Amino acid sequence: MTAGFDLPRWMETQLAVVEDALSAWVVSPAVPGGHVAPENLVSAMRYAVLDGGKRLRPLLVLAAYEAVHGDETASGCVGALRSACAVELIHAYSLVHDDMPCMDNDVLRRGKPTVHVQFGEAGALLAGDALQALAFELLTPLDDSVPSAVQARLCSLLARAAGSAGMAGGQAIDLASVGIRLDEAQLRTMHQLKTGALLKGSVLMGAHCATSDAAVLAALAAYGEAIGLAFQVVDDILDVTADSATLGKTAGKDADNDKPTYVSLMGLAGSQQYAKDLLARALQALNQSGLPDTAALAALASMVVNRSH
Ligand code: IPE
Ligand code: IPE
Ligand code: MG
Ligand code: MG
Ligand code: MG
Repeated sequence: MTAGFDLPRWMETQLAVVEDALSAWVVSPAVPGGHVAPENLVSAMRYAVLDGGKRLRPLLVLAAYEAVHGDETASGCVGALRSACAVELIHAYSLVHDDMPCMDNDVLRRGKPTVHVQFGEAGALLAGDALQALAFELLTPLDDSVPSAVQARLCSLLARAAGSAGMAGGQAIDLASVGIRLDEAQLRTMHQLKTGALLKGSVLMGAHCATSDAAVLAALAAYGEAIGLAFQVVDDILDVTADSATLGKTAGKDADNDKPTYVSLMGLAGSQQYAKDLLARALQALNQSGLPDTAALAALASMVVNRSH
């Protein structure tokens, strides 16, 4: 399915557009003709978003759009590009808050001191708040470049993925589970919410920019669920197997913080096998989608499971 697909070349093209868009949209201190946002807040927001990150979620948005739309034009679709950036802003905000002393208490992120180390706790809290609001601002441009029904659908998908039954809910379960041994079903729910929901949401947002076909959306939802869970399983594995320099964040934090993880539940080999099983499930969902070209989505799924950081 991925034979002949050049993922690095595809990624390079997409990432260049995403990085430019993020830099333009994460407000500069003086917006011509607009209000002036406090410089320190804007600096913290830009610090949190720019110069780092794999940008997996934007890539999933764009790949899903292209798989459904049928050609490599996602970055030219205003709704898809705005969605790609909006999910990355929600993700960046979640990382800023995840690293704070009241949550995981981390000092290193994307190879740099964390936002609260650099800007203080209140600065980090507000940068996260403002990034979350900006995500929804991006999805609701005041011109007619994104049809209003599509805007509403994208906002709904992102809100559900980020909220109490999505990322924030999963983070709440994570914090309530410190020192507790969860069974597989409980751990799966936690991972599906805290990480899986936003990855699945990314796939669905991209797809919704191009189709409302229920069968296609159901197949892509199944793909998104499988890779969403796989992503956090691999994150748990890398916390044990990789070093901080490779990860750009502190390795070994899960054991230090006494967090239940797939490695603590299934062991290393068991978790690695589970991630491979989830990859197979994701690829099967793509086959069932009936879409003619899912090479980018398939390659991204492999990357999620086989990554080193
Ligand atoms: C890290 O996400 C946090 C999790 C949800 C596991 P990423 O590994 O995608 O982090 P960046 O965006 O590349 O920094
Ligand atoms: C974070 O999970 C998930 C988020 C919603 C940010 P982790 O706490 O495992 O993420 P890392 O390992 O710090 O990146
Ligand atoms: Mg955490
Ligand atoms: Mg963390
Ligand atoms: Mg982790």
